[in-house]
Parts: sequence; structure tokens; C-alpha cells
Amino acid sequence: MNTIKKIGVLTSGGDAPGMNAAIRAIVRTAIYENLEVAGIFRGYQGLINGEMKSMKSHSVSNIIQRGGTILKSARSEEFRNSKGRKKAYQKLTKNNIDALVVIGGDGTFTGARIFEEEYDFPIIGLPGTIDNDLYGTDYTIGYDTAINTVVQAVDKIRDTADSHDRLFIIEVMGRDAGFIALRSGIATGAEKILVPESKTYMDNLIRLLKHDWRKNKTSGIIIVAEGDDSGGAFEVARRINEKFDQYETRISILGHIQRGGSPTAMDRVLASLLGYASIKSLLEGKHGVMVGQVNKEIIQTPFEKSIKHHRTINLELLEISRILAI
Ligand code: F6P
Repeated sequence: MNTIKKIGVLTSGGDAPGMNAAIRAIVRTAIYENLEVAGIFRGYQGLINGEMKSMKSHSVSNIIQRGGTILKSARSEEFRNSKGRKKAYQKLTKNNIDALVVIGGDGTFTGARIFEEEYDFPIIGLPGTIDNDLYGTDYTIGYDTAINTVVQAVDKIRDTADSHDRLFIIEVMGRDAGFIALRSGIATGAEKILVPESKTYMDNLIRLLKHDWRKNKTSGIIIVAEGDDSGGAFEVARRINEKFDQYETRISILGHIQRGGSPTAMDRVLASLLGYASIKSLLEGKHGVMVGQVNKEIIQTPFEKSIKHHRTINLELLEISRILAI
């Protein structure tokens, strides 16, 4: 028998476009299922501090198209220790919350897993991160929007790179994963994509630049993931300039622009489906899992697996991008 009467929902870690669409879906599905909903502000830190308010259907009106998260987000140091988690548990029981839906990335699920284990408290996770690095879903909420933001920016940079015969080294986010770099690199026809999943050999890169120059390329784009072993855009530019002076180089670090903006249709739909599925899963008695979509099917993956088994990148795509950039 289902004993859940009231759920709490929070967003945690780096925000991602589509989080609001997920909140909307969670709140409205829960209300449809006669559950009460508490919106918890600023992730686990807000939970510890008791920052929450009751959410109704109208609380989530007009947010499906908005970037960021109306519940705000934070990375909580306090939740990493048992004293902080105890306070969080006390706030949940005091407010009669029977289950949590958390939207975030691997830090969020690591916290959720430990908390579940300590307090036997039901938690369901939704993958909300631009990095796309979670096992158990083909795409995370926010990834598609972030890529489209990168593509728009790189297209603009390409115009000026071409006018001035320059080589641009553009650094994109992704923490220790190269998904954003790889997909946006293919979409923009980047001459080279550097990702943490594949070792970067600078000598090879310089050889490639020399080779391309002979084929009358007068400008170029290198996309480097922030977690790449080359050390990032500044280091790549320094190494190129040391050994190669045919190209004038410029650096562009796209930064947090990648985390904002109105979510794409794809992110809105994904967030809506996963938000709906999270409540259905809870009511079926599931918990300790992340709800994701694989091959168009909604599936559940235990937190431990979604965190530990980092999704692998398709390195064949790197080779394809190399061929397409000759
Ligand atoms: O996890 C999302 C992300 O944007 C990463 O790509 C990036 O490394 C990190 O968050 C940046 O975090 P912050 O906004 O806390 O500096």
C-alpha cells in the first residue's frame, strides 16, 4: 500500500535549462495523484535550513520555457557530513514529507544515496545537468540546450575567425566529461575536438595544423573540453604558439553562458516525461533510483550505478569529425 502523502522537490548542483519544466511536471503529476508538494529552495542546503513552501498547480505556471530553476540551486558542504544530513532528516519529518524528488547530477545522487542508506528515506532522482555524464539516460536535462548555445556561439566566432585568418581555441564546459565538446564540435565542423576521454598529444595536433594549412585552410576552430588533459584553452594556445606561427590564435572560454537560456523543445519534453515518470515510480514503490530515458524508453537506474558507471563517449565520433574536417 502506498503511504506517501507528501513529497518534497529540490534542484541541486549546477543548474540546467529544463529544470523548471521538470519541476512543473513533478508538481502537477503529484497534485493529480492527490499528493501534497513542498518546494525546497537551494537544494540540500535549503533543506537543512528548512527553506520550503507548499506548491500548487499555479506555482508552476509559465515556467516551462524559463532557464535556471525557480527553486534555486546550491552545492551544499554541510550535507556532506552526517550532522548536516541529520538536520535535513529532522526538517523532512517536521514538515511531514514522506519522499523526495531530487533533480541534479552525480553530486546530487551521491548525497541522495548516502541519505537513503542512513535514514531509509525514499528518494527518486532526475538527471539535470548540462554535462550529460550520467549512466542510465541517453540525454540529461539541459544538455541539448547547452549544445545549441555552444553551436550558436561557435558559428559567430567562425565568422570572425574566417575574416581574420585566425585559429580559435574555444573552451567548453563538461567538468570531467567531453560530451558537450564532442557533439558541439561535430555540429560546428570544428577542425579538432579535444576531450578528456581521449589523450591529447600536442605534437599530433601541431602536425595536423601544418597539414591543414597546406590545404589552404586559413582559419580554424579547436574545441577543448574544460577537463581535457591538455590543461584547457590557454595551455593549448600556448603550446601551439610555441611551435607554430602560421596562425594567429585567439582564445574564447564560453563559461556559464552554457548553463542559461530557454530550454530547447527536446529538453522540455524530456524534463516533462521524466518528471511525470518520477512520481509514477515513487507511487509504484520505487526509490533509490534515477529515472532516465534510454532508446526512447523510460528506465530506472540505481543511484550507485548512475554515478559510478560514467557514460562512455563514442570515440568513433572523434574520428568521423577528423575526417569531415580535412
Ligand atoms: O556540472 C555542470 C557544470 O557547469 C560543469 O560543466 C562545470 O565544470 C561546473 O558545473 C561549474 O560549476 P560552478 O558553476 O559551480 O562553477
